[in-house]
Amino acid sequence: MSRENALDPERKVEEGRFELSLRPKRLAEFIGQETLKANLRIFLEAARQRGEALDHLLLYGPPGLGKTTVAHIVALEMETSLHVTSGPAIERPGDLVGVLTNLEAGAVLFIDEIHRLSRTVEEILYPAMEDCKVDIMIGKGPAARSIRLEVPRFTVIGATTRQGLLTGPLRDRFGIVSHFSYYDVPALEEIIVRSAGILGYRIDASGAHEIARRSRGTPRVANRLLRRVRDFAQVDGLDTIEKGIADKALLALEVDDLGLDRVDRMILSAIIEKYAGGPVGLETLAATTGEDSGTIEDVYEPYLLQRGLIQRTPRGRAATLHAYRHLGLQPPERTVVESPGLFSES
Ligand SMILES: Nc1ncnc2c1ncn2[C@@H]1O[C@H](COP(=O)(O)OP(=O)(O)O)[C@@H](O)[C@H]1O
Ligand SMILES: [Mg+2]
Repeated sequence: MSRENALDPERKVEEGRFELSLRPKRLAEFIGQETLKANLRIFLEAARQRGEALDHLLLYGPPGLGKTTVAHIVALEMETSLHVTSGPAIERPGDLVGVLTNLEAGAVLFIDEIHRLSRTVEEILYPAMEDCKVDIMIGKGPAARSIRLEVPRFTVIGATTRQGLLTGPLRDRFGIVSHFSYYDVPALEEIIVRSAGILGYRIDASGAHEIARRSRGTPRVANRLLRRVRDFAQVDGLDTIEKGIADKALLALEVDDLGLDRVDRMILSAIIEKYAGGPVGLETLAATTGEDSGTIEDVYEPYLLQRGLIQRTPRGRAATLHAYRHLGLQPPERTVVESPGLFSES
């Protein structure tokens, strides 16, 4: 099973349509992330009362938690237009100048993967965010001169998987910084029930609970698992998804009791079996498992950390006692780090 691997184009196509239909449109439909939502509601209301654009907003958190969804919601709630782009898509400063000079007053410019903007493009963005000014160079060589254009006030919404990937100056230009955390089981249950309704398939509380607790705290994963469980239910001639069919489908998909998939378990067993429980460096781990190091760091590791299955040490990643127990392996007497026990649900 491929998960929110940003590098997998097939996933994007297949899931694109599905995600679009399930995406909440208004803040009131957005489930969970209560702190983020409560704050955002205030900032939206205040900006609307003043008739101003919302301050620049930085959204960060692991993939699939709702960053793109929130960007769309903000534009809709502010009754303004949304222009969507991404760090890697803006290759040259001129590309960004083109976008900025075409924005209407108060528009939202959503820049996904904003940590991947090049430095020269960032240099264009700073004065536009701060003073509504864009400096462009005209001509070449000694005759080159810089002219300054005015752009209307607008809102940048930047999304990134890790705040630490942003340059300091860029981060400082966001007036609002919102962090997405993994969803708890009740919130995921609610999302799953809502999605099943949109898909037109019945689900009972036991089915929603089983999928929710094995969705790694991530709505995108919950929706994907729901869709696969529905396939199993449909083929088995069941008109309602309940725990039994969810169990059967998740077993077939190799999603275990904690919601870990094959790759998660491969990472854990590599640390334990090849590196005596660690610590082992990220690049070594990537080479051993054949996974991209960025994907391990953005997608797999945050959840394994959060479940207390691995720890980050100055010398690399180490397996915890909990990881040994989960894989049914005998922990060695020494050096193993005890799980910090950050996660108490289940
Ligand atoms: N709070 C939420 N309530 C309901 N569905 C959600 C929520 N957050 C995310 N989703 C669902 O999960 C999918 C992934 O969300 P998305 O905004 O694309 O995540 P990100 O941009 O952080 O990777 C969306 O299509 C949406 O259906
Ligand atoms: Mg996104």
